Amino acid sequence: MSRPTPRMVMLHGANLNLLGERAALHYGTITLSELEGLVYKEAGRLGWACICRQTNHEGEFIEYVHEYRREGALIVNPGAWTHYSYAIRDALELVTCPVAEVHLSDISSREEWRRISVISSVASFTISGKGPEGYLQAVRRLVALADQDRQ
Ligand code: DQA
Repeated sequence: MSRPTPRMVMLHGANLNLLGERAALHYGTITLSELEGLVYKEAGRLGWACICRQTNHEGEFIEYVHEYRREGALIVNPGAWTHYSYAIRDALELVTCPVAEVHLSDISSREEWRRISVISSVASFTISGKGPEGYLQAVRRLVALADQDRQ
C-alpha cells in the first residue's frame, strides 16, 4: 500500500522576512521566498512536501512549533530568538520529529552574544554559516533521519 507523502515544515523567525535587504555580508542577497522555493524543490525531489511559515512574533513562532510538532521533520531558523528564547527552546522539546536548526551566517564567528544558541540542545543537528546550501543539506539530513526512524 502506498504511504501518504511525508511533510516537512520550515519556520523562520524575526526579521527573516527581510532577507535580501539585510546585511549581505552575513546573509547574502537571497530573499525569503527564493530560499523557500529552493527548499520546496529539494524536498520535492526527495518525495516530500514542504510548508513554510515566517513570523516576527515570538508567541506565534511557539504556536507554529506546537501546531507542527507531529510533522515528519522541522527546519527552524529562529533568528535572534536563537540566542535567548528559552520559551522557543521548551516548545521545540515537545517536537516528536527530527529538527534541524539552520543559520545562514556562521553564528560562532560573529558577536559574542550570537555564539550562544539555546536551541541547539533540542535540535537533532545544527548547520550554520553555509548560506542557502545549509538548508539543502538540512533537507537531505532530515529525510535520512526520518527514514531511519520509520524503519
Ligand atoms: C541568523 C543569525 C542570527 O544571529 C540573526 O539574529 C538572524 C539570522 C542566521 O540565519 O544567520 O536573524 O539566524
